Amino acid sequence: MHVAIIMDGNGRWAKERGLPRIEGHRRGAEKAEKVVEWAADLNIDYLTLYAFSTENWKRPWEEVSFLFNLFVNFIKKRISRMKEEGVKIKIMGRRDGLPKEVIDVWDWVEEETKNEKKITLAIAFNYGGRTEILDAINKIIKDGIKDVDEETFRKYLYLPDLPDPDIVLRTSGEMRISNFLLWQIAYSELIFIKKYWPDFDKEDLKFALEEFSRRQRRFGGI
Ligand code: FPP
Repeated sequence: MHVAIIMDGNGRWAKERGLPRIEGHRRGAEKAEKVVEWAADLNIDYLTLYAFSTENWKRPWEEVSFLFNLFVNFIKKRISRMKEEGVKIKIMGRRDGLPKEVIDVWDWVEEETKNEKKITLAIAFNYGGRTEILDAINKIIKDGIKDVDEETFRKYLYLPDLPDPDIVLRTSGEMRISNFLLWQIAYSELIFIKKYWPDFDKEDLKFALEEFSRRQRRFGGI
């Protein structure tokens, strides 16, 4: 089971409380840690979290740099706990343009957790679905491949071994994909929860799994 989450609504959560947006992100990161625990507990094998999109660069630099620091600190602070829980961490996104500190943590955390087996946490960072597809196409051209089928194409994605998500879940009530995993979600079930990300709880995750099991997936068959 692979659940991919668009953690939306941190800004609105903060605004409703008269707090700065970054406070919403801080709470969002705390919630992300909880969700990894809940997901492991519910026997989810893969969890993908959308933490920073290629479009998020348009935000004020104060917020962008806060999100970079949050990513670095999220990993540094929580890595030993996550290793104890058997969490393998993979980062997916475009490396170009990211600060060296982020790249260093990216490489370090993947190496440190590569033998963990309970759950894989993929963090989409500086990630865009179209960018990923274009990066794949350009690598394919560089490799001189003239004829591409789905199997070949998949090998050029950022994380080729990550299975396609069974569920894409978005919080906050917005019903959009926002450039998330465009290739991989061809047959995913889409589930929208009308709560801001910092208010998301374990019951919501359980609800998503139950909703998934109620839906019959036919993959284009009958
Ligand atoms: C969307 O809410 C959320 C983001 C752009 C950032 C998500 C990041 C985290 C939850 C923390 C980092 C987590 C990890 C795993 C490192 P928004 O700001 O667009 O909310 P709004 O739509 O209400 O403004």
